[in-house]
Amino acid sequence: MKSYYIYTYGCQMNTADSERLAHQLEQVGYLPTEEVEAADLILLNTCAVRETAETKVFGRIGELKRLKEKNKNLILAITGCMAQKNQAEMFKRAPHVDIVLGTHNIQHINEMIAEVQRTHKHQINVDMDNTVLPELQAKPNGTFFAWVPIMNGCNKFCTYCIVPHVRGREISRPVEAIVKEVTELGQQGFKEITLLGQNVNSYGLDFKDGTDFGTLITALDGIPGIERIRYMTSHPQDMTKSMIDALGSSSNVVTHLHLPIQSGSNRILQKMNRHYTVDHYKALLQYCREKIKDVVVTTDIIVGFPGETEEDFQDTLQLLKDVRYDMAYTFIYSKRSGTPAATMDEQVPEEVKRVRLQQLMDIQNEISLDLNKPMEGHNFDIIVEGPSQRDENTWFGRTSGNKMVLFPKDDSLKVGDTVTAHIDRAQTWVCYGSIIK
Ligand code: SAH
Ligand code: SF4
Ligand code: F3S
Repeated sequence: MKSYYIYTYGCQMNTADSERLAHQLEQVGYLPTEEVEAADLILLNTCAVRETAETKVFGRIGELKRLKEKNKNLILAITGCMAQKNQAEMFKRAPHVDIVLGTHNIQHINEMIAEVQRTHKHQINVDMDNTVLPELQAKPNGTFFAWVPIMNGCNKFCTYCIVPHVRGREISRPVEAIVKEVTELGQQGFKEITLLGQNVNSYGLDFKDGTDFGTLITALDGIPGIERIRYMTSHPQDMTKSMIDALGSSSNVVTHLHLPIQSGSNRILQKMNRHYTVDHYKALLQYCREKIKDVVVTTDIIVGFPGETEEDFQDTLQLLKDVRYDMAYTFIYSKRSGTPAATMDEQVPEEVKRVRLQQLMDIQNEISLDLNKPMEGHNFDIIVEGPSQRDENTWFGRTSGNKMVLFPKDDSLKVGDTVTAHIDRAQTWVCYGSIIK
């Protein structure tokens, strides 16, 4: 029996792709192994969004050389965004890699493995000219929860971002294909799905027939068994009022909105090519808060974009205080070669970026705690996800708004149960609760 081991880096899109790669491998007889040392095939599904992500992967590839030397038949495959970005350079840097497979052709993994076995030569496929997404089956990791990619690629070209370069242009899956998949997931007992796209608000625009994200949300409403529909990521330029109306009136869309702002300075937003102003963003969010009851709002912020002055940064801090996000994912700007921002003047010194990041996190942490505190004493429905990272006897689940609730393990509960939790104590990142029914 042949076995495989997959390392997954980066965003949920990669997690979803890994599940699709795993399914294909199992079709030709590979079995998963927990021990990387024992694997016949090691696959690294990689991310290139920040330099730290790439450094991590190159480090891992280096370590795996040892296993290749021990086992001549071991196959090492690099897939995902770094494969797409580095292409054949990957073999120069790490000749022990066998396969470089880009973001548009994961349906060809098994053919490439067969070619390596036949020829013992490097195999590469980094073509990006597909205009239709292959319909691929997944091997879901969970029992109640599934990722559902609705599109691939991004047309936005934010000046700091590598994603449009490595994921290519937007291609949407047809509404019917998505409805079919979600219906089948519901029949198989899945309760919660997350619709994935780099910019879900431009979903369907490539069909040029009036289809948009709102159409999809409406089509997915009321599918039997599906209790929760999550979606990410939203884009403030493309999110329209009618989409928000659809989200607000759906019976199963969750009360969590992830709406990246990136910066609180209009000057920086323009340099980032984000195509909206802070005022537009705030008005949009106001509309979301009216239409989606109790919506939990999270965001992404980059500090130290080229040319970011202390004044621009203060605008971002002010924005945090005005908007009051439940949570913010904060990043230090990372230069990505091939993107316009990488060659902009006035790169911000590393030390300044680090200080700004810390200031931002301090303010955000206070706000997160402030917003979680009023949850104490109230009840929330959660879906049980299993043991937390803390210890085996502390389990966790999430609210519709994506707040994590920890509770003492209870043998009468199983993963995937929908239960009501009473919140006893709220902290910055998590809440502690007791299950009441
Ligand atoms: N499509 C999504 C997510 C893209 S990547 C969106 O538009 O929001 C996730 C986050 O990584 C981005 O929101 C951004 O905040 C951050 N990011 C992207 N490129 C980056 C870079 N070069 N340096 C630092 N952070 C970056
Ligand atoms: Fe990157 Fe911008 Fe596209 Fe998001 S919208 S993936 S940040 S280019
Ligand atoms: Fe990384 Fe690619 Fe996602 S660059 S963030 S894995 S789309």
